[in-house]
Amino acid sequence: MSSTGDQSPLLAGIAHLVERHGPVPFSAVVDAALYDEAHGFYGSGRGHAGRRGDFITSPEVGPLFGTVVARALDRWWAELGRPDPFVVVEGGAGVGTLAIAVLAARPACRGALRYVLVERSPVLRQRQSEHLALAEPATALGVPGGHDGPVVASLGELPVTPFTGVVIANELLDNLAFDLLVRTADGWGEVRIGVDEADGEQPRLVRHVVPAGETASAAAERFAPDAGEGAVIPWQRAASEWVADALGVLERGRVVVVDYAVRTTAELAARPPEEWLRTYREHGRGGDPLTDLGTADITVEVALDQLEHAAGAPAAVVPQATWLREHGLDGLVEAGRRTWEERAGIGDLAAIRARSRIREAEALVDPAGLGAFLVAEWRVS
Ligand SMILES: C[S@@+](CC[C@H](N)C(=O)[O-])C[C@H]1O[C@@H](n2cnc3c(N)ncnc32)[C@H](O)[C@@H]1O
Repeated sequence: MSSTGDQSPLLAGIAHLVERHGPVPFSAVVDAALYDEAHGFYGSGRGHAGRRGDFITSPEVGPLFGTVVARALDRWWAELGRPDPFVVVEGGAGVGTLAIAVLAARPACRGALRYVLVERSPVLRQRQSEHLALAEPATALGVPGGHDGPVVASLGELPVTPFTGVVIANELLDNLAFDLLVRTADGWGEVRIGVDEADGEQPRLVRHVVPAGETASAAAERFAPDAGEGAVIPWQRAASEWVADALGVLERGRVVVVDYAVRTTAELAARPPEEWLRTYREHGRGGDPLTDLGTADITVEVALDQLEHAAGAPAAVVPQATWLREHGLDGLVEAGRRTWEERAGIGDLAAIRARSRIREAEALVDPAGLGAFLVAEWRVS
């Protein structure tokens, strides 16, 4: 029997699973640590974006990111022939910060806009309603248009009703559970998590490497054929499936994901896993993802080749800095600069907002930070 004495409920839950099934996949631990509805980092509402100190998410930097997204939505709406309704689904919407900024920017498409926030954590979903007037999802998705928007609704998972519009997600995929595969002397292995219950010690989670199954080995061979012995790669099935599902529900439009990402899994194989598998706790880098489950965010750099295998090649991949400029960032900053110059002496709200916009832009295009995130776009026509 596992002792469940003082250990955390999440550790106890995993110990229970291990007792029955043997060591569990790494993804099972990540999923519980992030999304368990009582104790997980996001599931319990303990964590939400804005969490990373110097590396807060783009919508949490301030309203500028959402203002640029609103411009992009208008451009895409026009390209689609101004459909009404125009459905925008935001995956991993958290407490709704991006939605609030997009709506505040009053995009031209707003009369036709059905904005659906998709957030797995019920606690975070509850918080969305503090700042957004939420309609029944059926109103957003089921009812024909008529320029009565914007209608805003919230769901726990992607809608299944096909629609014309956009699926957008900022820093969702890097938070979806993933497995770890290791190149060993005998082929590919998989990291599984067991429990060490040394006498007199608190139980703790430990890593075992077991021979990888057929599907896992084939994936590893496909994505990192030249990896040397000891190399580790993430196997990002949940992220790949999410993009494929999002494309599957679109009649016409695009799927746009913004993430800390690399083009190929092989790039990750060449780096130590501590670099691309990161934890964040209380606004700083955290430690081992297997300790103090549920108190830290666990993130992984997204390998775009894995998404491509599941969902087809994206039509475009550009750094966030480039993407923001393509959608009007420089003009917005220039307008802010003019306002600041005119009103700095007065020091009113308009002046303060203008100065803040200039600072936000610097953070959003920082090549050593958010500016280097990749924006990948898939189109359905
Ligand atoms: C890093 S946060 C990003 C929040 C927000 N997009 C931002 O940029 O500030 C990731 C969010 O995705 C949510 N999430 C994780 N898996 C999800 C899924 N399958 N569907 C919807 N939301 C999910 C998490 O609960 C969390 O709120």
